Amino acid sequence: MKKLLFQFDTDAHPSVFDTVVAYDGGADRVIGYGGLSPEHLGALVEGAIFTRPPKDKKNTAIFVGGSNLAAGQGLFKAVQNHFFAGFRVSVMLDSNGCNTTAAAIVAKLAKGGSLAGKKAVILAGTGPVGQRAAVMLAKEGALVSITSRKLSAAVDACEAMKARFGVDLAPVEAADHHARANAIAGANIVLATGAAGVELLAEEHWRDNPNLEFIADANTTPPLGIGGTDMMDKGIERHGKIIWGAIGFGSLKLAVHRACIAKLFESNDQVFDADNIFALAKEMA
Ligand SMILES: NC(=O)c1ccc[n+]([C@@H]2O[C@H](COP(=O)([O-])OP(=O)(O)OC[C@H]3O[C@@H](n4cnc5c(N)ncnc54)[C@H](OP(=O)(O)O)[C@@H]3O)[C@@H](O)[C@H]2O)c1
Repeated sequence: MKKLLFQFDTDAHPSVFDTVVAYDGGADRVIGYGGLSPEHLGALVEGAIFTRPPKDKKNTAIFVGGSNLAAGQGLFKAVQNHFFAGFRVSVMLDSNGCNTTAAAIVAKLAKGGSLAGKKAVILAGTGPVGQRAAVMLAKEGALVSITSRKLSAAVDACEAMKARFGVDLAPVEAADHHARANAIAGANIVLATGAAGVELLAEEHWRDNPNLEFIADANTTPPLGIGGTDMMDKGIERHGKIIWGAIGFGSLKLAVHRACIAKLFESNDQVFDADNIFALAKEMA
């Protein structure tokens, strides 16, 4: 029986990246739907849950993606609202790679020692990756702040993660390099999760910071988020700080993403979101 992955995307066009990883993770056929919102789901989910007998339902799974995490979370919940009794299939949420990318970064940092009590600042943490990284760091016991160019966006992101995961995050407005340098003054950990190709800090803003132990940057598109680092950095030391670049942890991100896809087809009742994707990343790191 063929392993079918239905890729439900909140963007107009289903993510090509997610399609490729879905095949590499073991799906035999990936069927993408774009521009989805909860009101479109009825027939799509029913088609997935009713068609195969109980022992074969594990061969059908649903992946929710797209660039808007709030929309992805809503769609993910709406998919599950259509399940009842044994009529369900496994599902995964990874809007813009939020869970798999954040899990890989934080798992790499956690491998270096306990993060409990560390002060962590997530620069431009209002996107999907930053929000999920904030949750994972907070669950490891770190004291986490999220910066944004606008305080209201940082507040919204912190409140959304509090509502979903019960974690306390601090919002910080930091609109330029100078403000972001001030925001990281007391930090032990800095994660840059800004939009692709946007520098958030130059080397001079972090090089001499005596509190900083770890820096990670998710941006793979030059200019990088943190000046003076390299996207290939794989836990190397620069100016006395351990640096992880986007390609440096990217192989773990991809391995975790593929492993989650493979696991979706092991049974029909799995729900992959931040908690269990992070647990898997820690095992694999
Ligand atoms: N390495 C990997 O495996 C991997 C996987 C997935 C994603 N990524 C990368 O991870 C990063 C984060 O992804 P994402 O989807 O969470 O990001 P995103 O939503 O595209 O952007 C995150 C935040 O960047 C801020 N931003 C946008 N333009 C800016 C500008 N000109 N100056 C300063 N800040 C700006 C915005 O925050 P405010 O408006 O609140 O300021 C936005 O919410 C991206 O660079 C993405 O390419 C890497």
